[in-house]
Amino acid sequence: MTDRCPPSRVGVVGFGHLGQFLVDHIQKEGPGAGLSLAFVWNRSAEKLTDYVPEELILTNLAEFTDRKADVIVEVCHPCIVKDFGVQFLSHTNLMVGSPSALANPQLDQALRLAAKQHGNTLYIPSGALWGGQDIQRLNDSGSLRALSIRMSKHPSCFRLADGLLSDWSEEEGRRVLFHGSVAELCPIAPNNVNTMAAAAIAASTLGFHGVTGEIVSDTALADHHLVEVEVTGSGGFSVKTERRNPAKLGAVTGSATYRSFWSSLLVCKGHGGRVYLC
Ligand SMILES: NC(=O)c1ccc[n+]([C@@H]2O[C@H](COP(=O)([O-])OP(=O)(O)OC[C@H]3O[C@@H](n4cnc5c(N)ncnc54)[C@H](O)[C@@H]3O)[C@@H](O)[C@H]2O)c1
Repeated sequence: MTDRCPPSRVGVVGFGHLGQFLVDHIQKEGPGAGLSLAFVWNRSAEKLTDYVPEELILTNLAEFTDRKADVIVEVCHPCIVKDFGVQFLSHTNLMVGSPSALANPQLDQALRLAAKQHGNTLYIPSGALWGGQDIQRLNDSGSLRALSIRMSKHPSCFRLADGLLSDWSEEEGRRVLFHGSVAELCPIAPNNVNTMAAAAIAASTLGFHGVTGEIVSDTALADHHLVEVEVTGSGGFSVKTERRNPAKLGAVTGSATYRSFWSSLLVCKGHGGRVYLC
């Protein structure tokens, strides 16, 4: 950083796995990376006391404006995006860690409008998505025709609604749990589909209803998640990628995704009133 560019002040909303990782990184590596903490909020503030200086703990999220953050990072729950996203964007840039919230078309429109009206950027971190900006470019050129994403994990790594996978056994091997639109998949697997949601946001001409998602339980995947993306463009264009994301048994989030979030945060310097995949 030069003297002309003061550090970006980051407000972190949520102190679970990702929130703790980001707060720790901002405290340790922030000064060198041009980042400092503006505030940290968590539903139960007492969880913060051993990790965050008292003056940086925000107890009432509605008072976020007092802290003058340059970017707010939501790493909490889609409901916080629903309840506060428009307010956040009316004042500053926002990186949404739970982009499955945008499967709600009214909220999606409200957030895009707030970003445009206030000139603040709605950042969508790539997470475990490979090639998101390429998908966005194809989309913006009008050449994107189809997009499908398959996520395969060990059954212990899924958190599904309605006990969908409560009956798995270590011997069973591979089972397709769902195949359909990302819009339908979001309510079934809200914690497992953020990568697909980021892809659906990049592919805005297809949207959540037009992008296909598949989740697969596979007991052979004991140390990594698999993310396969298939993109079809006009005139016979196609791309297939397969990403191996190292992950411990039972981990919803692959370990590379934490670093990916940090890299995304470093990009959030303000890109005007629009949605920006980072
Ligand atoms: N974009 C991606 O690729 C990606 C990757 C991993 C996780 N995520 C998402 O990021 C968010 C945080 O992930 P994490 O791994 O840190 O999860 P986590 O479960 O470790 O932490 C979530 C935090 O939010 C709090 N919380 C949960 N529900 C809440 C609610 N209704 N109101 C207020 N606070 C609430 C919890 O107390 C906890 O502190 C989740 O929504 C997760 O789905 C996104």
